[in-house]
Amino acid sequence: MTKIAVLVSGSGSNLQALIDANLSGKIVGVISNKPEAYALKRAQNADIPTAVIEHKQYPNREAFDDVMHQQLLEWDADLVILAGFMRILSAQFVKAWEGKMINIHPSLLPNYKGMHTHQRVLNTGDTLHGCTVHYVTAELDAGQALAQGVLKVNGHDNAHTLANRVHVLEHVIYPQVAEWICNGTIQHTEHGVLYRGQAMKEPVQFCKL
Ligand code: GRF
Repeated sequence: MTKIAVLVSGSGSNLQALIDANLSGKIVGVISNKPEAYALKRAQNADIPTAVIEHKQYPNREAFDDVMHQQLLEWDADLVILAGFMRILSAQFVKAWEGKMINIHPSLLPNYKGMHTHQRVLNTGDTLHGCTVHYVTAELDAGQALAQGVLKVNGHDNAHTLANRVHVLEHVIYPQVAEWICNGTIQHTEHGVLYRGQAMKEPVQFCKL
């Protein structure tokens, strides 16, 4: 059974979706870099062990990441899910978990890496927007995309309504990708990412137009 650790910093609605999905893997622990993160409460309500590792208490990124790494080893995690974790990870940490760590980003990558994606989509006047689940690599928001949720931007959308609509899609595609990894539908191999045994050329698309 896949042992999953989830890294959070905030509200944890994606964590909740993962908990509610009854994955075939088991969520063995949740790490937050913020003691006040509501995600911790969600984990505790579901009887999932939690660890608070405050980045502010460490002299540098590497030292902070090393404590997280040790915690993940202690839980014997084999899949790390970033769910609203708002820290950039060191190259060393990313390397250690390469092929075993995924993230969800609120844009249709490779468009709009980084922050404030909803406003940037509106500023550009794009008609489509959404979210992407991808493997984490050293370059920010640039690892192989596994799934995308796509929606149509409405004339009356603002950054707030777009964020809410994208969140609904996130809560569908993130548990789905996690389950695909748990049950072997998606495999990270030395020859690349496989989806149902074939090389994955494009992310699986989910649409809510
Ligand atoms: C989501 O918008 C996700 O795309 C981004 O961080 C946010 C996390 O939200 N990576 P939540 O804490 O899961 O509610």
